[in-house]
Amino acid sequence: MARQRKPVSVDHSNSKFPKKTQSQNANKVGFFSYWKQVLACVCLVVAVCVGYMGYLETRVNTPFDDQKMVIKSGLDVPDRYWGSYRSGLYFGMKTRDPYSLVTGLMWYFPQQLRPDGGGIRHWCEEGDNLNRYGWTEHDGRTFGIQEIQDGPFLLTTSFIKKPGGNHGGDWTARISITTPHDQFIGQQLSIILYSAIEEKTKGWIKPSHFGDKFLTGIIGETDGLGSFNIKLYNNSGEIENESYLSCSAQGLHVLKETVVASLRLVTDRQKGNQKRIVLPGELLPIIDGKRSEPNFIATQITGKIPFEIDMVFESGSNMDRSSTLMGNKYTDELKERRNEFNIKFENVFKLSSKGYKNDEILFAKAVLSNLVGGIGYFYGASRVESAYTRGPVPYWKAPLYTAVPSRSFFPRGFLWDEGFHGLLISKWDLDIEFDIINHWFDLMNVEGWIPREQILGHEALSKVPEQFVTQKNSNANPPTFFITLHFILNNFVDKLTGKEGQLQNLERLYPRLQAWFDWFNNTQLGDLPGTYRWRGRDSTTNRQLNPITLTSGLDDYPRASHPNVDERHIDLRCWIALASSTMSEIAKLLNRNEQKYTNTYSYLSDNKLLDELHWSSNSESYSDFGLHTDAVVLKCPPPPKSPPGYQVPQNLEKIRIVLKDPELRFVDSTFGYVSLFPFLLQIIDVNSPKLNKVLDDIKNPELLWTNYGLRSLAKSAPMYMKKNTEHDPPYWRGPVWINLNYLAVRALNYYSKKEGPYSQKSKLIYNELRSNLINNIMKEFKRTGYVWEQYNDKTGEGQRSRPFTGWTSLVVLMMGEIY
Ligand SMILES: *[C@@H]1O[C@H](CO)[C@@H](O)[C@H](O)[C@H]1NC(C)=O
Ligand SMILES: *[C@@H]1O[C@H](CO)[C@@H](O)[C@H](O)[C@H]1NC(C)=O
Ligand SMILES: *[C@@H]1O[C@H](CO)[C@@H](O)[C@H](O)[C@H]1NC(C)=O
Repeated sequence: MARQRKPVSVDHSNSKFPKKTQSQNANKVGFFSYWKQVLACVCLVVAVCVGYMGYLETRVNTPFDDQKMVIKSGLDVPDRYWGSYRSGLYFGMKTRDPYSLVTGLMWYFPQQLRPDGGGIRHWCEEGDNLNRYGWTEHDGRTFGIQEIQDGPFLLTTSFIKKPGGNHGGDWTARISITTPHDQFIGQQLSIILYSAIEEKTKGWIKPSHFGDKFLTGIIGETDGLGSFNIKLYNNSGEIENESYLSCSAQGLHVLKETVVASLRLVTDRQKGNQKRIVLPGELLPIIDGKRSEPNFIATQITGKIPFEIDMVFESGSNMDRSSTLMGNKYTDELKERRNEFNIKFENVFKLSSKGYKNDEILFAKAVLSNLVGGIGYFYGASRVESAYTRGPVPYWKAPLYTAVPSRSFFPRGFLWDEGFHGLLISKWDLDIEFDIINHWFDLMNVEGWIPREQILGHEALSKVPEQFVTQKNSNANPPTFFITLHFILNNFVDKLTGKEGQLQNLERLYPRLQAWFDWFNNTQLGDLPGTYRWRGRDSTTNRQLNPITLTSGLDDYPRASHPNVDERHIDLRCWIALASSTMSEIAKLLNRNEQKYTNTYSYLSDNKLLDELHWSSNSESYSDFGLHTDAVVLKCPPPPKSPPGYQVPQNLEKIRIVLKDPELRFVDSTFGYVSLFPFLLQIIDVNSPKLNKVLDDIKNPELLWTNYGLRSLAKSAPMYMKKNTEHDPPYWRGPVWINLNYLAVRALNYYSKKEGPYSQKSKLIYNELRSNLINNIMKEFKRTGYVWEQYNDKTGEGQRSRPFTGWTSLVVLMMGEIY
């Protein structure tokens, strides 16, 4: 990696200091002054070196030097100030501020509560084993409805926002709990509705009682929100008990722990010695004679199912509110919003006019809504590292408005996922997508690099294993935002040229896109002209069967067995080709000089050159090239020699044994997604017989074809479904992934519409692959309640994390045939 960087040296030719001795017959003084000068010179070189090193050290966390992309944030965008931006929670509202008032929901069944807090639902956790949950309608702006099925109970969380005043307006959320089963009616459930302010929020909150009609609520004031109150209203059902907690919590990442630590078991003497779990009220210690201020206020409501609570946020600056948005008024308003949503959904995706049945359309709405409803707002600093920093250093603090791959397992921003999310989001709401793109490109550093995984803030950090936190600036990730931009140009070109704001947005983005392109084109170059190589592979490990390539996005997809500089990666080369063609399109639209990009694109899409570098005539497929052998196995190392009569404990971890020396060759025994890239990114010529071969390979059930979509790795590949270490199950080594299947469907659509010898064949495969994917994802959603990260290539069953309404939600675009 260091090969790509400027060597650390000082240019002596610019040195103001003499390189030769000034006098041959130096006297003693001269002699000393000579050494003084040498010493001064050495000192200066060292100083310059240190200075230069210091400069290099700060490069990694210096922002890109140009105007900011996000020019409107916080209250400048009042209609998106509030939102369900706490992606990782079942339900919570916050504002688009670095430090915000946050609200949230927890619930539990009193008889299932364990002393360690087990049983309390708060963050979306796979371990909660909910039957299903997710937004079923959400427009990203004004309202949302979510259904959560927890055993025999159905919780519905909805919210509506109302503009008014100068601080982002009002909103009301409704939590209703019902059950379709008679035997569970009347069972107790406790819900906890809370508000908290982060440490750095300027402002205060305190509990408040608004009279008989209401439960314990909150009043407060912050810089962003001005004064406000939150009322809790019992809209229907029987409330057994109400209690509250007002205290000072250590941070947003320990709110549940704070609740657990304060719950009390008490005996209610008035009600036949019933045992109750309640919150204790004020828990504010007196420090230095002063009562500490609360930053966390929670109201617990124990009700008999069914019951329904409205949580009403009212902004103090909103003067023209005719009545409080609750009760029937809320019910009516929700009906209207839903109506508008449904009309818009049909206008955008046209599923009804395509003949989809009602339950299929409900599925598509739920998938879109959970992607849009999962959009979060994060604030904080990543941890980054370069060759010049001593260990990890903080990036600058920044906000990120982004969708997330999975609300439970990956509730944070991922660079290459976001490019896929952008396809669906831009189709739904182009302004939201531009805002997301702008936030991401503000995370670009002066080198043109954007970190791959964004772990911002305590809440996000507490969900990530330590070894994945630090991001290295030598490492890339597929530049999928170029697909988003290509898609936007394709789908909205009239709108873009018509609408000033969005064109100007592209104008502002352009220098950053250039820098991003250059960063890829310079730092990920291969050794031979026209080749590219993912950085970040570990060439020294013997723990992994095949060293992973996290940066490619395809983690454990098998590559050359012995990473070195001779490697060339076909997928990366195709990504750069796609990037150059998109850059050329954008440059043309903006009347900039596109020549450089057009040239790079024609160079990288020249099939003759592509074939020379990546077509293996042996396997008749596109492939990587590198130092490779297939003859590797994971084995227990031989036990260390132990002295006679003494048992040395054995290290049981398996290591890789290489049975045959690697050689420089195509990695062509491995057929899979990577082999398809020239096809996926539409670089193969329409008339190329190689297109025909790829189409045949796609249809071959011994290779990638299944009834559920294309599997990631051919059954015939040596690493098909192999573990990479004893503990790492196969990930991109067989299962069906939807992002690349979307690209396959998109490419088939493209080749079927281009006149050529294989268009008919492409059309047939297109129809079949598309319906296989849609049917299976839909079937699994019905069966399990979720869409999944990946699908089993033998059974079609959803697996790994759920709900995965990140790129799996592209199924909606496949249904609508939008590419
Ligand atoms: C909640 O509302 C129901 C129905 O409106 C009413 O019967 C009940 O008394 C209320 N409970 C409380 C605690 O206000
Ligand atoms: C809730 O239960 C506690 C403990 O039994 C009792 O002290 C309190 O008055 C109850 N609150 C209501 C509103 O019923
Ligand atoms: C990309 O890199 C190649 C190789 O260094 C260079 O020839 C080409 O001009 C670059 N493309 C652009 C658009 O800068």
